[in-house]
Amino acid sequence: MNITRRDAIRKTICFSSAVIAGNLLSRAGAQPGAFPAKPGGIHLLAFGDFGSANKEQIDVANQMSAFAKDLNAPLAGVLALGDNFYGKFTMDRFRTGFEEMYPEKTLGCNFYACLGNHDYEHVGKEKPQLTKADWQLRYAAENPKSRWKLPAKWYVQEFRDATGPLVRMIVLDGNPIITKEEQMAQKEFLENELERKTTAPWTWLVNHFPLFTSSSKRRDNEKLIAEWGPLLKKHKISHSIAGHDHTLQHLEVEGYETSFIVSGGGGRALHEVKETDRGFARAQLGFNHIHVDRKAVTTRFIDEKGNLLHTFRRDTEGKVTIG
Ligand SMILES: [Fe+2]
Repeated sequence: MNITRRDAIRKTICFSSAVIAGNLLSRAGAQPGAFPAKPGGIHLLAFGDFGSANKEQIDVANQMSAFAKDLNAPLAGVLALGDNFYGKFTMDRFRTGFEEMYPEKTLGCNFYACLGNHDYEHVGKEKPQLTKADWQLRYAAENPKSRWKLPAKWYVQEFRDATGPLVRMIVLDGNPIITKEEQMAQKEFLENELERKTTAPWTWLVNHFPLFTSSSKRRDNEKLIAEWGPLLKKHKISHSIAGHDHTLQHLEVEGYETSFIVSGGGGRALHEVKETDRGFARAQLGFNHIHVDRKAVTTRFIDEKGNLLHTFRRDTEGKVTIG
């Protein structure tokens, strides 16, 4: 069913309620849902706020592995949406909290990371005092064969299919803690990247902090809305993908053509959500499966038990269809 964006918002809410009821009756499993993946295109996973080292992280990690195994198609990448390591940090966390937690056997693709607020916590007392972000950048640089990819605090990653560029993914650092100079350099990078011509039909903006949220205890991020909002409106950015709020959300916001995804259910205690007219929001552990081809991007929200919670498909004209 094709519907307008305004209708999509209302439709999303109806859809969510129906699926919640459905999930109480039976375990849905991570089935394809209303939009079976067609041959071709690429598959990605996305998750955030995972680095807790507790049972919640393990449950989501295991479900990501199980999903990838059942997918029967290679993954082009996993988006690691920040707050990659909570609590005390040593370099051994890369082994326990990444390399072993998300095993190469099932998740044998690159993990494209961005930096969250917890990634700026200090490590050790030696001077100069390093942050977890410094160590994550260093790990990526010193272990080029690792699946952990974080070439810089902000960078661009292109995904291709057999025809050519498919997704231009711009990864940013939305932390207010970065210096004024860094903020200016990042803005220049972003503007230059958006002006650059690409044949990729999709451009995504990825960072840890959602511009808009339906979490009960958090508000829309006015600073980032002021900074990046005009660029979202000016350029054809189809998806804005973030974490930070420990929820799963798909929002369609009045005045924006971009679809907003919050994927912060990777393994930390959850936040409550409030009802709004902007779309789907659940206080739930889980992750996203994103299938991309030249006609559409189909995003699924899957919980830690494998239940399919919500699906939406967005075509190149910006039409959003809820599954
Ligand atoms: Fe965060």
